[in-house]
Amino acid sequence: MRPIITSSQLLSYDNEQELDPARAQLLARAKQAAADAYAPYSKFKVGSAVLLANGEVVIGSNQENAAYPLTMCGERVAIFAASALYPKEKIAKVAITIISEKGNINRPVTPCGACRQALLENETRTQADIELILQGDSGEVYVIKTVKDILPFIFDASFL
Ligand code: THU
Repeated sequence: MRPIITSSQLLSYDNEQELDPARAQLLARAKQAAADAYAPYSKFKVGSAVLLANGEVVIGSNQENAAYPLTMCGERVAIFAASALYPKEKIAKVAITIISEKGNINRPVTPCGACRQALLENETRTQADIELILQGDSGEVYVIKTVKDILPFIFDASFL
């Protein structure tokens, strides 16, 4: 028997003012997208902004349903739209943020496991790392170089 230890790494910024203007702008686009989320049940509005290699930005937000499991996360709405609109473009960066109507969340919100897996699929498909920029309602911002940094023991096409 031998233990196998994996690690995660990211950069932490105190707030969006500490970011370079391009990243701050992408985060602002994600915040605008969050404002338009359809989240009447959870009151947890998620916005995502995808920056493509060609400079285009595609946004998404969570879309809920009275039949709860039909809900789609904001991250997947954005990356699926980006793939549908620009199937050949690599995704360079994805900003993810929230507007919580139940009280300010002052720490970065990290994508759910399903969204990490969907982001990983895109990294594999395009052979390019995707940078993640994450923030809650306000405060600290995480910048993560690749989805693989927050998704240990990945399942990908190499098993198939
Ligand atoms: N949600 C996202 O949009 N992204 C995530 O990564 C986690 C959760 C949404 C789904 C649902 O509309 C609400 O947040 C509460 O779970």
